[in-house]
Amino acid sequence: MTAASLATAAYIVAAVLFVLSLRGLSTHESARSGVAFGIGGMVLALVATVWVTVQNAWGDPQASVGLILLVVAVLVGGAIGLWRARRVEMTGMPELIALLHSFVGLAAVLVGWNGALNEPHLTGALRDIHHAEVFIGVFIGAVTFTGSIVAFLKLSARISSKPLVLPGKNILNVGALVAFVALTVWYVITPALGLLIAVTVLALALGWHLVASIGGGDMPVVVSMLNSYSGWAAAAAGFLLNNDLLIVTGALVGSSGAYLSYIMCKAMNRSFLSVIAGGFGIEAPRKDGEEEVGEHREIDAVGAAELLTAASTVVITPGYGMAVAQAQYPVAELVQRLREKGVDVRFGIHPVAGRLPGHMNVLLAEAKVPYDIVLEMDEVNDDLADTDVVLVIGANDTVNPAAAEDPSSPIAGMPVLRVWEANNVIVFKRSMASGYAGVQNPLFFRDNAAMLFGDAKAKVEEILRQL
Ligand code: TAP
Repeated sequence: MTAASLATAAYIVAAVLFVLSLRGLSTHESARSGVAFGIGGMVLALVATVWVTVQNAWGDPQASVGLILLVVAVLVGGAIGLWRARRVEMTGMPELIALLHSFVGLAAVLVGWNGALNEPHLTGALRDIHHAEVFIGVFIGAVTFTGSIVAFLKLSARISSKPLVLPGKNILNVGALVAFVALTVWYVITPALGLLIAVTVLALALGWHLVASIGGGDMPVVVSMLNSYSGWAAAAAGFLLNNDLLIVTGALVGSSGAYLSYIMCKAMNRSFLSVIAGGFGIEAPRKDGEEEVGEHREIDAVGAAELLTAASTVVITPGYGMAVAQAQYPVAELVQRLREKGVDVRFGIHPVAGRLPGHMNVLLAEAKVPYDIVLEMDEVNDDLADTDVVLVIGANDTVNPAAAEDPSSPIAGMPVLRVWEANNVIVFKRSMASGYAGVQNPLFFRDNAAMLFGDAKAKVEEILRQL
């Protein structure tokens, strides 16, 4: 068996491991084995690639230089990746993921440019296909690159999460797509370097504009959409490099990312096409909505403990603030204590609570909260009207009644947990500040709601001492 066919066999096994990994990641119980399959597939793919490169480099001085460069790049990249992954906080994961997507985009641009500058000797249709691959790879890669950088800047609050609304933004996006198609045809007929420069600049600007046009509330969909784009960028690079595994893996990431974006759009009542087209059809919010709309009431830990002691049904709706405060451990203890007293306690998890898909589920699983009391928004929403106490722990946008009741709100139409229907609502947060979408929350001013100001972890611990 030749080195190349052994590598192909290893690539097939790696691709199967990636499919098993995706399958495993779809439920809590199998998530760990999903991660293990993914690691196994990636190790196999790397070993096979390095091995086949060593075989090809044997006795060829030029190829040996390539091999040394490959090993140095893997070592340096691996060391930086390990260092960042060990240091990153759970709350910083989404922006790290966005940054990683930008690297995939940049790699696809570089592979595309390399394919143009070091043209293989091809003729006829094969040559045309090569030129189309170069152009498409550079375009998808560049859109992914700048789009992911804007997502990184928005998610890490380095720039405002508000949507950029340029005049005629939809015409700009459609115009860029039409120009791309025209340039591709032109490049296939006459592969001039100027055209490649033009498409690179065009795609960099389009990626920036597409993501800048999307508001904070829709960022979850954007991150999974960029995940999908990075997959297609990798697949495009795979065609240029003649690497089957890169094509298969890219297609897996591209299609699973697209499906995740679709599920998220459905959960948030957003049009999938509108979001991938950079907020097509979404108008600028008619009002900013950060002003306060009434008087709020405060409660302390003693009062909260009294309400909880008298309650027979409690629902907890956690959000990003629970992750910031790392309050999941005392929350788990509170749940255990209340259940021992015979209180029916359940969690209601909004699909985009926190900053990454499944964020709250991961935190609660970490704190060993039983899975069977962690329910999805739709499973708990109809029961909220019959609930004695709802604890809103560091959640804001996901429990905002404006989404359901105010058509002029920037988050209008997004399904939310209807916590305001409960008898009592206690909101754990540090101030009256708005949530990620920058929209004021009328819940805080409802008669049945009370604010428990302070760090969520400290406040839950205070309640525990009172119980
Ligand atoms: P947010 O609307 O982001 O609100 C979180 C609240 O937590 C803030 O109002 C903040 O108020 C409070 N908080 C922060 N630190 C706290 C602490 N130490 N103790 C107590 N409270 C604290 O949260 P959410 O309801 O989870 O909504 C998520 C938002 O993020 C949505 O708009 C969603 O679209 C967006 N998003 C989600 C994702 C995914 S995939 N889940 C990805 C990107 C963006 P104070 O500052 O007053 O304390």
